Amino acid sequence: MLPRHVAIIMDGNGRWAKKNALSVAFGHRKGVETLREIIRYSSDSGIEVLSLFAFSTENWNRSQQEVNALMQLILEYFTSEIDELNENNVRIRILGDISGLPKRQRDTVQASMDTTADNIGMQLNIALNYGGKDEILDAVKVISKLVLEEKISVDDIDEAMFEEHLYTAGQPPVDLLIRTSGEMRISNFMLYQCAYAEMIFPKTLWPEYTVEEYKSDLQAFAKRERRFGGRNL
Ligand code: IPE
Ligand code: IPE
Ligand code: MG
Repeated sequence: MLPRHVAIIMDGNGRWAKKNALSVAFGHRKGVETLREIIRYSSDSGIEVLSLFAFSTENWNRSQQEVNALMQLILEYFTSEIDELNENNVRIRILGDISGLPKRQRDTVQASMDTTADNIGMQLNIALNYGGKDEILDAVKVISKLVLEEKISVDDIDEAMFEEHLYTAGQPPVDLLIRTSGEMRISNFMLYQCAYAEMIFPKTLWPEYTVEEYKSDLQAFAKRERRFGGRNL
């Protein structure tokens, strides 16, 4: 079965650049090519939601030069791809705190959400200035205010209600999490949504990850036995 929701931690751009004696910025640029192919294939194959980790709340810790290169790429990507994404009926949602992005980037990503808001094809989540802990804390703060204002009672807080306050409100949980480059950690990505996600950790560095390998990872997912705490025997 095809996963409804695929989340990808696109990792390995830096190591790919190093391996090829290229700048880190070029590694990220190469990574965008992979991202384009994976989005296209996901949308064509009928995946409902694709979430891509593009920039974490922790990535500000990188050098100013690298952060600038990433911000520049974000601008270029959204500007050059928006028409094709829109034609393909893709609906964009940014996961993360966009108020923390520079103004030009903020305006551009906001425009991409507005332009595609009524599309009914694949939901594309791009995580920018995203942290899973932040996302949960944001939800807790909003819900706490509702309680204080006596708009809801504590007993109204259940999973469904909580999920409506996550950045992914209205979307199904992550079925498959893929992280390239061989690292086997979640790095603060979609902590809540991955509660029952199947995980695949290809060794391939993100710039070298292909649609062929993606297809085989989707097939591997289809063979996984998901139990959700129950028993299938
Ligand atoms: C992932 O590639 C992309 C971002 C974090 C933006 P990295 O830049 O983390 O690549 P490695 O881990 O250094 O190889
Ligand atoms: C996670 O990768 C963030 C993105 C892919 C955007 P990192 O490369 O930043 O994660 P760590 O630091 O190795 O855990
Ligand atoms: Mg990395």
